[in-house]
Amino acid sequence: MDVEFAMFAREIMRRSPLYADLCAAIADTSDVLALLDAADVAHRRPVQLLAALHYQVLSDPAHPLRSQYPSTGGQPGPDLVPAALAACRDDADALRHLIAHRNVQTNEVGRSPLIMIGLSHLSPGEPVDLVDLGTSAGLNLYADRYRTTCVDPDGNTLATWGGTDPSLSCVIRSAGFQMPQLVTIRGRRGLDPDPIRSDDHDTLRWLDACIWPDQSERRDRVRAAIATAQSAPPAIDTAHLPGGIDATISAAHTGARTALVTSWVLAYLAPEDRIATIETFTRAIADDDAVALLLESPQECPDLPWPDSASGSRRTEMLAGRRTPSGHVAWEHLGTAHPHGIWFLPL
Ligand SMILES: C[S@@+](CC[C@H](N)C(=O)[O-])C[C@H]1O[C@@H](n2cnc3c(N)ncnc32)[C@H](O)[C@@H]1O
Repeated sequence: MDVEFAMFAREIMRRSPLYADLCAAIADTSDVLALLDAADVAHRRPVQLLAALHYQVLSDPAHPLRSQYPSTGGQPGPDLVPAALAACRDDADALRHLIAHRNVQTNEVGRSPLIMIGLSHLSPGEPVDLVDLGTSAGLNLYADRYRTTCVDPDGNTLATWGGTDPSLSCVIRSAGFQMPQLVTIRGRRGLDPDPIRSDDHDTLRWLDACIWPDQSERRDRVRAAIATAQSAPPAIDTAHLPGGIDATISAAHTGARTALVTSWVLAYLAPEDRIATIETFTRAIADDDAVALLLESPQECPDLPWPDSASGSRRTEMLAGRRTPSGHVAWEHLGTAHPHGIWFLPL
C-alpha cells in the first residue's frame, strides 16, 4: 500500500494538494496504512481511507481537522499532516469499521448535460423513459431539470434547459456542433445495489465524504442536486446488474421509448456481468426499440462494443446504441467527455 499511496500522491498533486500531502505522509507510516486491511482486497485503495477520515470530520463538530478541511469551512495549514495522522490513530477503531462496511461511492451530477446531449442525439425532440443503471443517489435522473447551459469554444450559447439548482455548464469543444432538438424525459427510474436515499442523512454524509474536501465546486453541485432530489425523491430499485434490468425497465415505463444509461458503472462489474449487461441492452434495443447511452472508459471496460475510434481510450467515451431502420443494433461512438461533464468533444 505504501507504493500505492506515494503514486496516488503524485498523481493528484494538482487536483487536490490537500490529499496529495496526506497520501505522501501516510505512505511512510505502517500503522495508518494497516487500517486498510479492514477492507476487502478490491477496496484497499487510498480513497477508501481518505473517505472514512473525511466522514469523521463531517460527523464530529469538534473534529480537529475541521479547521483544516475546506468542506467544513477550514483551510489547510502547516500542521495538517500531523493532525491527520493523529486523528487516524486516535479514531482507528471507528475508521476500521467504516473502511470495512462502506465503499467509496459518488454521484457526479456534472454528467447530466452529457446525458441530455447523448439522449437528444438518440431521440431528438421525443419523450423517453430514462432508466439509469448504477444510479447511486439517482441525481442524474433529473438531468433535464437542472439549470444547464451548453456553450461552444468561444463561449456562445448552444442550448439551455432546466430551472432548478444546481447550475451546470458544459463546453462543447467543436466549432460546428449542432445541438439536436432536446429529448423530453417522461418516466425516470434508477437501479443500484447500494442506493443512496435522499432522506437518509447518514448515507448522504458518506456521499459527501467521498468528494474530496478541496473540491468545492463538485460538493456544491451535489449538495444542490440532493436538495432538488429531496423535494421529489427519485425511484430507485435495489438490484445488481445484470439482473434486475427488466424489472426496472417495466417499472419506469410510461409508454415512451426506454433510454438505458450507465455512467461510470460498468467498470465496477466483473467482465461476465458486463458482457451480460450489454447483451440485455442489445436485446432491449433490438426487440423493443430502446436506446442506450454509455459513458464509460474503454480501458476499464474493453468488452463493450467500442468502435476503433474509442478502443483502448483511458478517457470517458460516449457510446450510443439504437436500432437501425433495417432492424440491426448499431453502436456509435459520439465523442469524448470530461469525466465530470465539464466539456464534451464530439466526433
Ligand atoms: C462511480 S459510481 C457512478 C454513479 C452514477 N452513475 C454517476 O455517474 O454519478 C458507480 C455506481 O455503480 C454502482 N454499482 C456497482 N456495482 C454495480 C452493479 N453490479 N450493478 C449496478 N450498479 C452497480 C455503485 O453502487 C455506484 O453507485
